[in-house]
Amino acid sequence: MTAEQLTEILLPGKVEPEGLTVRHGAVPAPAPGQVLIRMEATGVSFAEQQMRRGRYYDQPAFPFVPGYDLVGTVTATGEGVEPGMMGARVAALVKVGGWASHVLVDAADTVPVPGGISPAEAETLVVNGITAWQMLHRKARVRAGQTILVHGANGGVGSVLVQLARAAGVNVIGTASARHHAALRERGVIPVDYRAEDVAARVRELAPAGVDAVFDHVGGRGIVTSWRLLAPGGTLVSYGSASTRDAEGSKQWPVLKLLGRVWLWNTLPNGRRAYFYNVWAGRTLAKDRFRARLRADLTQVFAALKHGDVTAQIAARFPLARVADALRLAESGTVAGKIILNP
Ligand SMILES: NC(=O)c1ccc[n+]([C@@H]2O[C@H](COP(=O)([O-])OP(=O)(O)OC[C@H]3O[C@@H](n4cnc5c(N)ncnc54)[C@H](OP(=O)(O)O)[C@@H]3O)[C@@H](O)[C@H]2O)c1
Repeated sequence: MTAEQLTEILLPGKVEPEGLTVRHGAVPAPAPGQVLIRMEATGVSFAEQQMRRGRYYDQPAFPFVPGYDLVGTVTATGEGVEPGMMGARVAALVKVGGWASHVLVDAADTVPVPGGISPAEAETLVVNGITAWQMLHRKARVRAGQTILVHGANGGVGSVLVQLARAAGVNVIGTASARHHAALRERGVIPVDYRAEDVAARVRELAPAGVDAVFDHVGGRGIVTSWRLLAPGGTLVSYGSASTRDAEGSKQWPVLKLLGRVWLWNTLPNGRRAYFYNVWAGRTLAKDRFRARLRADLTQVFAALKHGDVTAQIAARFPLARVADALRLAESGTVAGKIILNP
């Protein structure tokens, strides 16, 4: 029998998708507290589009292995790890390193994937599901009967967010390109074409008193419009700066500007709240709480999938070695849902 080999995708620097390289090596052994996951599904997130341009807020120095999250089976456990984890199917949020056949992760950072959910289905919901759930239920704390505005309602995060919101009895207005509108209507979302329509005017028509929450990953100047669309008592959740993906200059500055705005808006007495949501918040200072929350929330999202409240939207599947095609497709903006990479 030949020993298993490690295959991983390396991002060598600021490159076009074709500049990603494949590297082979020995499969690593888990240190105390770690597990080795044999990857069954990973995926393309918006973060990798930013990272290959050197535009992700806190990406590591080049070269590194990208891959924000993964799903796989535990094939080795380090000292001190509960032996029952061997053979378990787990999901993990890693930020980088997921685009590999084998990944080392702290056992405490893994979340069990319930039976009956395939690796690719689970993968659509790791970073996207955690982000959507936490913004909806921990930040905006939506209630049935409320109306929200979701930008990028067909994207990886957006598509999960709108489904969770609908399941909670919330009315949803969603921005997306026209080609995604039929699918959004089927989900009970009122679509608005951000490319062709005056989004603010259309939202005011649909919700004259304002919306109870806005979820904004676009950033830039549009964040001010998002804030102004809020009803009294409403909540703005800013969580990205997609509009500055192709900008030059500091990669931190667009996010710092958003943080400054959020701070200012919360300081002024206006009866509305603003947050900048960061899925990693609390990871360093309150690690145990961070892990408990992440585990609880992703478990809820997996339960929503089993319950049929959320469908796993797989946009396309590629073998890991064809990651360049996968990334090109993600950047084309023609697909809805999550692009999956298989080993
Ligand atoms: N803060 C955090 O912790 C956190 C965590 C996860 C993700 N994120 C952020 O969440 C965002 C979405 O990630 P994803 O993986 O879901 O990306 P994705 O699948 O590529 O989806 C991006 C979506 O944005 C839409 N879009 C692009 N430009 C837009 C604009 N100017 N106005 C309105 N919509 C626009 C696209 O719509 P069309 O296809 O219709 O053009 C698409 O639906 C990214 O900005 C990412 O950085 C943040």
